[in-house]
Amino acid sequence: MMTMEYHNPVLLKETVDGLNVKPDGIYVDVTFGGGGHSREILKRLGDNGRLFAFDHDEDALKNTINDLRFTLINENFRYIKRFLRLYGIRQVDGVLADFGVSSHQFDVPGRGFSTRFEANLDMRMNQRSKLSAFHVVNDYDEEQLRQVFAQYGELRAAPAMARLIVDKRQEAPIVTSEQLKLVLKKFLPSRHENKVLAQIYQAIRIEVNQEIEVLKEFLLQTPELLVKGGRLSFISYHSLEDRLVKRFIRNGMFEGEPERDMFGNFEVPLKKVGGLITPSEEEVKTNNRARSAKLRIAEKL
Ligand SMILES: C[S@@+](CC[C@H](N)C(=O)[O-])C[C@H]1O[C@@H](n2cnc3c(N)ncnc32)[C@H](O)[C@@H]1O
Repeated sequence: MMTMEYHNPVLLKETVDGLNVKPDGIYVDVTFGGGGHSREILKRLGDNGRLFAFDHDEDALKNTINDLRFTLINENFRYIKRFLRLYGIRQVDGVLADFGVSSHQFDVPGRGFSTRFEANLDMRMNQRSKLSAFHVVNDYDEEQLRQVFAQYGELRAAPAMARLIVDKRQEAPIVTSEQLKLVLKKFLPSRHENKVLAQIYQAIRIEVNQEIEVLKEFLLQTPELLVKGGRLSFISYHSLEDRLVKRFIRNGMFEGEPERDMFGNFEVPLKKVGGLITPSEEEVKTNNRARSAKLRIAEKL
């Protein structure tokens, strides 16, 4: 029987190079998944180095690495400072993030992430979480649904989609992905059905996992967590995510401009290292998930 790979790491060398790993340093991989990036960090650490990893999906725990230098924390990275403090860690030399969903999460039909399978509306990365796609689709009011589709799916038909869902679910709850697809059929042009469906799924998934709030909370903690010269190395997969990462690295905030110091220079906690890094054509050919990856690296000033 063919065993399915849990996740093929994206931009593996480039992302870990971005951390500038010091053999005795303390590092955090906040999106452990199949552990590809974590294993590469461990290869570059000496006996006294340490690596902490986070993943809130229970399925990721089976990939844990048996290594005295390694600790896997089954929690949301929005609580990064709080959980590291439990281990006596207040500052680290680098943080790696490979945001979004793993191939494993996409490939297990029951998780409900993929447009390829019929499944109950779920899409929770953390199986203990209360909010699922079912709740979003069946309990959110029209305005909330419109906002989800407009903001997170960037769908022009968001108001009409929200109205139709609210109408249809009065007849019977929308339980499966196939039912949702049927309800929204008129918005799925045959030539771009998969593209629009992917936008709809992305919107619901971002809401279910509160991805934007979580990302903001996490980013705000990183400058304080890093030692001077410490590195961030982050891979994003959609423009909303990448925009927040980019602005945070540039300004230390998500909107507006930072204050200036007495010399008129912006007071910012980070500086970018190099430009945007994207996967080579070759990597995209062998790993389709890499196609939308954007890597940004920053250093604490
Ligand atoms: C793209 S995969 C990472 C793959 C990993 N770099 C590898 O090489 O196998 C993202 C992982 O991060 C986890 N994740 C996403 N958001 C999270 C969050 N807010 N807190 C903790 N884990 C999260 C997901 O459950 C998933 O397993």
